[in-house]
Amino acid sequence: MSASGGWHAANQTEQTAWKRAAAEAAVREIPDGATVGLGTGTTAEQMLHALAGRLQAGLQIRGVATSERTQALASSLGVLMASLDEVDHLDLSFDGADEVTLPTLNLLKGRGGALLREKLVAASSRYRIILVDVTKIVPTLGVGTVIPVEVETFGWRHTAARLAAPGCRIVRRALAPATASAQEAAPFLSDGGHYILDLIYDSPPDIPTLAARIKATTGVVEHGLFLGMTERVYIGGPDGVRYADRAR
Ligand code: 5RP
Repeated sequence: MSASGGWHAANQTEQTAWKRAAAEAAVREIPDGATVGLGTGTTAEQMLHALAGRLQAGLQIRGVATSERTQALASSLGVLMASLDEVDHLDLSFDGADEVTLPTLNLLKGRGGALLREKLVAASSRYRIILVDVTKIVPTLGVGTVIPVEVETFGWRHTAARLAAPGCRIVRRALAPATASAQEAAPFLSDGGHYILDLIYDSPPDIPTLAARIKATTGVVEHGLFLGMTERVYIGGPDGVRYADRAR
């Protein structure tokens, strides 16, 4: 296993190439006329660049972004964009992930802080495709990494206290480390204007139980565990791109 908790180690150049290969393979499958959810993160950005190539070749789609960042990049690449409420449903969606387990295709997402809109778009999509490099495949979610939780800013310390549990450290995500002149680093704010609390567990939590407990906590808007919300994962690695489908 790699230091990140995944089974495969890689340097950043390899990882970037594997992400690009997964994104390019997936984008080949977009049918003409589809309404497509567009994810957030470096892999999603690779997907947008691959999509731009297909648009130049005549593909017509409508995109729905999962973040302001993706909205800006997709628009600049010539994707016709709509808001989530302007469409009845999405035919398919593409996004990255921080961790994926096989064969469940359960995900941990939210390092990029876009988890709420990512989950809203995924929930309205008929077919959800995740693009990763092989380092993101892990045996268990949330081991040696953070579990991001998006919370209302009002009373967030009280929400954090309600989330507290033995063996769990909670850190409010910051924009940059605190400096000598600033006593506390400025907090990260999501596109929806919420804070992200990163939960760090000493030992692997039971993921379905944890997801249900977090979701039921007053002050929580959403969490980064995406369970049973993915139909296919494209995985780029040293031997090329393969995909895994969730058993139905
Ligand atoms: C953002 C996310 C991203 O999809 C996730 O962090 C993966 O990012 P990257 O493709 O840059 O590795 O969940 O909220």
